[in-house]
Amino acid sequence: MDIFKLIEEARIVPVIVIEDEKDALPLAEALRKGGINIAEVTFRTDAAKASIEKISATYPDMLVGAGTVLTIGQVDEAVKAGAKFIVTPGSNPKVIEYCVKNNITIIPGCANPSNVELALENGLNVVKFFPAEQAGGINYIKAISAPYGNVRFMPTGGINPQNVGSYLKEKCIIACGGSWMVKKDLIANKQFEEITRLCKEALDIAKE
Ligand code: 3PG
Repeated sequence: MDIFKLIEEARIVPVIVIEDEKDALPLAEALRKGGINIAEVTFRTDAAKASIEKISATYPDMLVGAGTVLTIGQVDEAVKAGAKFIVTPGSNPKVIEYCVKNNITIIPGCANPSNVELALENGLNVVKFFPAEQAGGINYIKAISAPYGNVRFMPTGGINPQNVGSYLKEKCIIACGGSWMVKKDLIANKQFEEITRLCKEALDIAKE
């Protein structure tokens, strides 16, 4: 399975915080109805592991990754639960080296050239750019990608329907991550139809 190809084809990667594992499957269904068959479930809640397990078991064709992974222990938990890729907010050398050594797909968080070079040093050329808008947005990515022509960025942080198009039109962007279509209150209030609508809207913008 070429995970990066699937991420590139997906264009939009929902970054999800699930508080109650009971919401995992209805949420996955809502994403799929909206045309999105990928999810980054963040390890920010106790429900993350069980949610990844449920979604992976019920929808084996869905590309489920684990986000906000901070430790090697969490890498192991995520992979055991079925996560196909790991996303980290920053560049933790221990976590990066562990994933590379064990053939686990990792997209490390980068916010400057030194972070990008740590990724390259480990043979990785797809990185998360975080927090995208706050760290300088697409202009900053274009500037740091100049010396690293083969690096692709997955920006997340502050991305929304208004600015997502300006990222996706650049070749150095593999996909955009964000929580705008899966906001916590939408999940808590079980507004799954609205989540589906926001996913469709995001994909329409991505196709423009
Ligand atoms: C992430 O972990 O990638 C970000 O928290 C997502 O950022 P957003 O909530 O601003 O979309």
